Amino acid sequence: MPDDQISSVSSDQSSGLSVGDPVSYKIQAARNEGDRIILDFDSKADARLSTRWLRLACNCEVCGDTQSGKRWLTPADVPASVRAENIDISTPGELTVVWDDGHISRYDAGFLARHCEGATRFQAKLWAKLWGGDLNSSIGKFSYETVVNDDEALFGSLRALRDHGVMMLTGVPTQAEDTMRIAERFGPIRETSYGKVFDLISKPEARVAGETARAQIPHTDEPFRYSPPGFIFFHAIKTGAHMGGTSLMVDGFHIAELMRTQTPELFEILTRHGVTFHREHADEVFFSTEAHVISLDSKGQVTGIRFNDRCLAPQEARDGQIDDLIDALAEYTRLVCLPENQFQHQVQPGEMLVFDNQRILHGRSSFDPTVAERHLRSCNIDRDAVHSAFRTLARRFAPQEAEQVLYQGAIL
Ligand SMILES: [Fe+2]
Repeated sequence: MPDDQISSVSSDQSSGLSVGDPVSYKIQAARNEGDRIILDFDSKADARLSTRWLRLACNCEVCGDTQSGKRWLTPADVPASVRAENIDISTPGELTVVWDDGHISRYDAGFLARHCEGATRFQAKLWAKLWGGDLNSSIGKFSYETVVNDDEALFGSLRALRDHGVMMLTGVPTQAEDTMRIAERFGPIRETSYGKVFDLISKPEARVAGETARAQIPHTDEPFRYSPPGFIFFHAIKTGAHMGGTSLMVDGFHIAELMRTQTPELFEILTRHGVTFHREHADEVFFSTEAHVISLDSKGQVTGIRFNDRCLAPQEARDGQIDDLIDALAEYTRLVCLPENQFQHQVQPGEMLVFDNQRILHGRSSFDPTVAERHLRSCNIDRDAVHSAFRTLARRFAPQEAEQVLYQGAIL
């Protein structure tokens, strides 16, 4: 990841405390105000802590810890009336509380700074770096050899995925085991009804649209699943360069933000109205999911996208709403098809595009299968496994990034 990500996080802090920096916090003063404890960090900002929250945050051996799940204290064990009998900051970087029942808790000052009330001003927030047609100059490229052998290089590629939702691996050998070897660095490969590793080769008896030579509108894969593929790996084996079949990638978060600005009423529909996606192969599988095209988190930020024109079921809506819903779907389709919103790339053998399938839409231009022999191999990995790999490596290489909230995807 470019270092400017960190600096932009730090400069965003209005309090003067920047959690993006690996600093140890100093508590200059502490006051007990009944149901709140007030901490003064480096004389720069006051932090308010609810005593009920603080008592519940105790991670001592008696209370247990939530990280490992060996946790024994529950919210029901801590009454709203809980108060501190005594507070002490004489140990540097630490707050010690003696509670009214005699229990003693110790807290790291940095932990308190990150979690106090109104802590958004302390917390590092990483928003996606939205892109339109301009990804060419900034897409992260990483060599197969380094990502396979070096954890820090792997972490760099995971940062690129976090920021842009897509990155490229180069020099990937063409054997199926090499596809799996690199993909499994990011997490266990998900086995689906299409298998574990799927070869997309154009052929006359196409089972899915990917096996034809037709153009494909940018889409997310398999939105008909309750939990769609998280991250997709597209490994180019044969591409028939310059014969069509150009890969198109679109930042679905960017499209959502365009809609939020330009047609807010249509944006609203896609965040609130259920849309049904389905897929059926007779006597074999029948998937159907109703979900939002644009998923928002609790703060209204876009956190995931589901969109695939080829899987849209006949939609349902109350009287008078169906045309508005179709309007919204048509506008999203129009925007993903605009070249100015697309990263266009002719993949070469040995390249692998890796992307967040719940943010990035992928498609391709048509090609002539009699001239261009096109063979892509793909597999996918659940998003929580990839994000877990990111956080685990961040603990080693960039501790200040380990606890950042990541986009949780196309939640229902
Ligand atoms: Fe696809």
